[in-house]
Amino acid sequence: MTRAHVPVLAGELIDIAYPGEGDTVVDCTFGAGGHARLVADRIGPAGTLVCVDRDPAAEEHFAELAAEVACDTRFLRMDYADALELLAQEGVQADLIYLDLGVSSMQVDARERGFSYSYDAPLDMRMDPDQELDAREIVNGWEERRLEQLFRRLGEDPNARIIAREIVRRRARAPLTTTGELVDAIESALPAAVRRRFGGSSPAKRVFQAVRIAVNSELESLDRALPAAWAVLRPGGRLAGISFHSLEDRRVKHFLADRARGCICPPDLPVCACGQTPEAELLTRRSVVATPGEVADNSRARSARLRVARRLTSEERG
Ligand SMILES: C[S@@+](CC[C@H](N)C(=O)[O-])C[C@H]1O[C@@H](n2cnc3c(N)ncnc32)[C@H](O)[C@@H]1O
Repeated sequence: MTRAHVPVLAGELIDIAYPGEGDTVVDCTFGAGGHARLVADRIGPAGTLVCVDRDPAAEEHFAELAAEVACDTRFLRMDYADALELLAQEGVQADLIYLDLGVSSMQVDARERGFSYSYDAPLDMRMDPDQELDAREIVNGWEERRLEQLFRRLGEDPNARIIAREIVRRRARAPLTTTGELVDAIESALPAAVRRRFGGSSPAKRVFQAVRIAVNSELESLDRALPAAWAVLRPGGRLAGISFHSLEDRRVKHFLADRARGCICPPDLPVCACGQTPEAELLTRRSVVATPGEVADNSRARSARLRVARRLTSEERG
């Protein structure tokens, strides 16, 4: 059965990024609309909520939400980086923009979409089914060295090399076409002693994460989206990111910290030569993580990190 997606760090997002009556808000990763529902309650009938997701399944959840909430709503089915660029062109000025990154429970639970190592399904993993690149193409088409780097960098998998080698050995006989075949290749690449160390969890988890991030160009979209979001924020507006992977969190952290620092001169320069002044106030000095209670209720929350910054007004920038 498909679980409803439980929004992560939702109370914290509302408290720290404080959507208010009449605000214009952009939810870049609508999913099942868990965060969006809470935001819609806060912004009320005078507010506007723009919802973005590249997965057509999210659009069905949006239709339900739009029928129930009082604010103005709009759905953009596209990559959030493209959506933010479109909103900038339209001259939209947002009070709050947030990204709740990664994959939703509905996507993982939709067996036929191939996100999960727990079900046998075609190797797919596309959030946007209209996109050409899928997991099958990566697993069967990328060179061994490239696969190894992918598993190491995006999966942080210490067994990257032997797993990549086993995949390449198997696909020389016949292409891997299902998640079950990929799981089998990963498991048989590992010596029994290493396999035992995983206990109840799957040794395929890290590789699946890496392939999914690559299929959906998740880090590239985030790199484009952060500056695009900043351009759409009105002075005083807030930008929030909820990350589940260290490479996502690092991007959000550095982007917001750079805006809050202003000066971009090399640290060894005695006097500032760039003249840039801070344009943001960090509303989270450190990342905010889920409480033990939330993690107990929703294991997805374990790796979540929330960071929020506010764009300074021209008066504040002096
Ligand atoms: C973690 S879920 C969001 C869950 C949502 N906040 C909720 O409460 O239901 C992430 C969603 O973002 C979407 N997504 C991920 N990357 C995207 C991108 N680059 N552009 C648009 N949507 C994206 C996924 O399709 C997925 O539905």
